[in-house]
Amino acid sequence: MLIRKPKSYELKDNEATSRREYLNRREFMRDLSRAGVMAGAATLVPSGVSAAERGRKFTGLEAQQNFAPGEKPTPYEAVTTYNNFYEFGTGKDDPARNAHSLKPRPWTVEVGGHVEKPGAYDVDDLIRDSHLEDRLYRFRCVEAWSMVIPWVGIPLASLIERFSPTSKAKYVRFETLQDRDQMPGQRRRVINWPYVEGLTMAEATNPLTLMAVGLYGEVLPNQNGAPIRLVVPWKYGFKSIKSIVKIDFTDRQPFNSWQQLAPHEYGFYANVDPEVDHPRWSQARERRIGEFFRRETLPFNGYAEEVAQIYAGMNPKKLY
Ligand code: MTE
Repeated sequence: MLIRKPKSYELKDNEATSRREYLNRREFMRDLSRAGVMAGAATLVPSGVSAAERGRKFTGLEAQQNFAPGEKPTPYEAVTTYNNFYEFGTGKDDPARNAHSLKPRPWTVEVGGHVEKPGAYDVDDLIRDSHLEDRLYRFRCVEAWSMVIPWVGIPLASLIERFSPTSKAKYVRFETLQDRDQMPGQRRRVINWPYVEGLTMAEATNPLTLMAVGLYGEVLPNQNGAPIRLVVPWKYGFKSIKSIVKIDFTDRQPFNSWQQLAPHEYGFYANVDPEVDHPRWSQARERRIGEFFRRETLPFNGYAEEVAQIYAGMNPKKLY
């Protein structure tokens, strides 16, 4: 597991919330007992993280599973200040500046559709009853920038098993919170709110697919999609929907937000493919945040061995 070194912009111990004050928070105590979350050294993450969430680390994580061997994790500061989260503005630094208005706890995920165990699940119950994994993944945005991120998450397959989908379930549809007060960017119709995404059952149950609840060993900052977001490392980043409140099992292919906005530019599958260009730019290369020279983009973002079989016999052009 990665240990995060304090950064120059972090508060000194004496400036930070006292440990006692911190421990007094009811929700924190509840999480402590339920989810195996505990206070780390009192630290300040850049912004967008509520005081109650700040510096909380997950404990009991086993050794990191490295799915980006030989690569350097993108610094924490970049991962949490260079974001796409249109619910808080369309600028890269808007989410870190504005996401403090999101209240990630208490948080309920509504599960429905073709499942035997539908219901309203509290996110902390889902975490408590799950095995959390620490996984280093490459993350490639459709805009041709990329990062390497150490996520903490629950394999989606294990959650799906718990919800017991029926044979009618062919797709999983996810929805982000819709609340103009918590998400001021929703006052402008840049997207048909709420943000929607979807996967086939084979994609959703692939062992690589994660529901992330943290990064760098800490609780997920608001701007990264707190308290729970999808991570599908072989697909363009827009598939990795944030701040999920609804999971539906359907027999129809979900019509995701970017498809609704620009159907000629964005598809349902959105698999990373250096040979299929975006109509307005090449996808052959990418800019790794923090690096100067662009590097080659890998088919399926380097995860072909794990996922290519899902798409056997399908036309690669249709997988965009
Ligand atoms: N989810 C929601 N709800 N709203 C968004 O605007 N942006 C997507 C995806 N999930 C987005 C979202 C895009 S385009 C990308 S590249 C990733 O989130 C960015 O994730 P990150 O900011 O944690 O790097």
